[in-house]
Amino acid sequence: MKPLALTVFLAFLAPVALAAPEDLNLPEVLKTLDGKRVTSPEAWRDGRRPEVLELFREFVYGRAPVGRPSSLRFEIRDTLEDFMSGDATRKLIDIHFAGAGGRGTIHLTVFIPNKVKKPVPGFVLICNRGRENIDPERKTISGFWPAEQIVRRGYVAATFHNSDLDPDEHDGFKNGVHGIFDRKDTERSPDAWGTIAAWAWGASRAMDYFESDPDIDSSKMAVVGHSRGGKTALWCGAEDERFALVISNDSGCTGAALARRKSGERVARINKGFPHWFCDNYKQFNDREDELPVDQHMLIALMAPRLVYVASASEDAWADPLGEFLACVHAAPAYELYGLEGLGTAIMPPPDRPIQAGHIGYHLRKGKHNLTEYDWNCYMDFADKHWGRNISDSGQ
Ligand code: GCU
Repeated sequence: MKPLALTVFLAFLAPVALAAPEDLNLPEVLKTLDGKRVTSPEAWRDGRRPEVLELFREFVYGRAPVGRPSSLRFEIRDTLEDFMSGDATRKLIDIHFAGAGGRGTIHLTVFIPNKVKKPVPGFVLICNRGRENIDPERKTISGFWPAEQIVRRGYVAATFHNSDLDPDEHDGFKNGVHGIFDRKDTERSPDAWGTIAAWAWGASRAMDYFESDPDIDSSKMAVVGHSRGGKTALWCGAEDERFALVISNDSGCTGAALARRKSGERVARINKGFPHWFCDNYKQFNDREDELPVDQHMLIALMAPRLVYVASASEDAWADPLGEFLACVHAAPAYELYGLEGLGTAIMPPPDRPIQAGHIGYHLRKGKHNLTEYDWNCYMDFADKHWGRNISDSGQ
């Protein structure tokens, strides 16, 4: 083996050394803005958690002007009980809403396993790739959303497309839910919601539907997203505590990766490339990551005491796998307040060796930036483990 090839080979085998938290000077999860130490679950839940959430709203993702709108309405467009060779019932649901600026619809696709005790837990994917990846007819099958496998393992497979909420383009926040709900009589404020927050809002409306469907166990639903969708899943999980499990796949900058590592994509770059994703205040931190009042380990900590899972890919330097892993490590103190284990290790695992014992799961998949069947299987293993399910629940 050539020396370089050998080094790369060894790097995959050897645990990666960690940068000490002091080196990054991360803000402490359990220290309030006025310097008080948080020592109980109550002080976290009622004090520090809302404080951190507000910081992320004000300086990063922006503030949604509306929660569940009174206009929200579910239209079950179609129910087919004999889908996937009889394994699943398919429901196509249109979630309608309206505001001063017009109306919108989220097209939600849901497959519910037939041979399983109801209500059934499951996963909702925020799809940010082409709609063919989430084909409700299943003529196109994609590893990005392996609905058949999800159903076979006894879980609900649900999904919607992010563009139902807001097209992924910078149009000055005129179209999508911004156009529908934003006030027109005042100037847009620097902490107004960006597009990531708009997509996250959509996942919460899907949760509104799950709560209304007796076949779905809304107390055990996971929100899943890849890349920009992974940033969205994390923000959704922070804003909406109804999600019991939050899954970030290769979310990178302003997702799971620590900003202060300044590795891979950085704040200035993401704000330039995607000026509509975050609130305007976030632009103050271009090339000034150290001045952020938060870092992304605090976003992960906002899930505590619920389950959260972060996955990276070994060839995805743009998303900074080590920064994603370290954010999980440094989110742990919020879990420890509840007597729960966070990640349970500070040593980055080699590729394809998932860490799943604690309430924070992590894996580094070998390969490129993508959401694959391997990733999904890890997420379902984690859910099986923590939700006490096994293959007999899936009716197989
Ligand atoms: C770009 C962007 C990332 C994002 C990714 C994606 O690479 O810079 O921040 O995660 O697109 O969504 O695929």
